[in-house]
Amino acid sequence: MTRTQNDRAELEGYDKLELGATGRPLRDFPEPRKLKGHGPARIISLCNQKGGVGKTTSTINLGATLAEYGRRVLAIDFDPQGALSAGLGVQTHDVTTIYDLLLSGRKDPQEAIQHTGVEGLDVIPANIDLSAAEVHLVNEVAREQILAGVLRKVSDDYDVILIDCQPSLGLLTVNALTASHGVLIPLECEFFALRGVALLVETIDKVRDRLNPAIALDGILATMYDSRTLHSREVLERVVDAFGDSVLETVIGRTVKFPDASVSGTPITQFAPEHQSSKQYRQLARELIARGAIA
Ligand SMILES: Nc1ncnc2c1ncn2[C@@H]1O[C@H](COP(=O)(O)OP(=O)(O)OP(=O)(O)O)[C@@H](O)[C@H]1O
Ligand SMILES: [Mg+2]
Repeated sequence: MTRTQNDRAELEGYDKLELGATGRPLRDFPEPRKLKGHGPARIISLCNQKGGVGKTTSTINLGATLAEYGRRVLAIDFDPQGALSAGLGVQTHDVTTIYDLLLSGRKDPQEAIQHTGVEGLDVIPANIDLSAAEVHLVNEVAREQILAGVLRKVSDDYDVILIDCQPSLGLLTVNALTASHGVLIPLECEFFALRGVALLVETIDKVRDRLNPAIALDGILATMYDSRTLHSREVLERVVDAFGDSVLETVIGRTVKFPDASVSGTPITQFAPEHQSSKQYRQLARELIARGAIA
């Protein structure tokens, strides 16, 4: 397919999406009100132990669109692959990372915070060092609560903290869930999407019972939706059948623009502000604010 054909096909697909891909009437979520002050932050983990479902892409672009709406956002790279840090174009070597903060309770988290090219969006980076964290933390007292302790020190400076989890349900992810007020589960619209979600929900329930009674499921976000395929539509239908109103009305379409934006080290909202995906992430930000998940 030529580029123009491809773009046109995408546009046609998105037109159908406007009709409400989740089978519910599409509401236009209102423009968020301006905040008078900032903080304390609501902490949200983007979590799914399945790889490649759009956790990092959603953290970057939700972070960027919330910042556009005047929210102060801190994104935590909680994956040793460091994809969030790379996608936001920040340094990961010879700098303080989230790993250093986890290991030394005395380090000031401010040392690790880096500004991004998006005004109002900051990040604490990670690199491959973080892969050793689970081994180091396993013998610590209250080992599940270490990240919560780190984030407490910076929470007052931000309206929202987004944690980009790695694809596993190990100790790092349990730390993220223990530190969080809410969880957002990105689900790729493909056949095996629902596999493993039961285990994830079970893990969230255990964290709620044992470590963090207040944790809420903020929503399930369908990603990589392709309305041109019956397959995508069927998967989305099954997801809505299984999770009802927990499924966010905003659906992120599949597009080749994301890999391009990642390479450039900027959110898609800066790389291609008028692209349909930028609009979808803005809608996601408005929906989460309208639902009360974010101030
Ligand atoms: N809506 C989309 N359409 C097309 N490609 C996408 C979309 N969202 C993300 N991608 C691409 O899919 C790949 C996986 O996305 P991403 O890294 O966000 O997933 P992840 O869940 O964070 O993966 P991991 O589990 O490895 O951390 C990336 O190459 C990304 O550019
Ligand atoms: Mg990722």
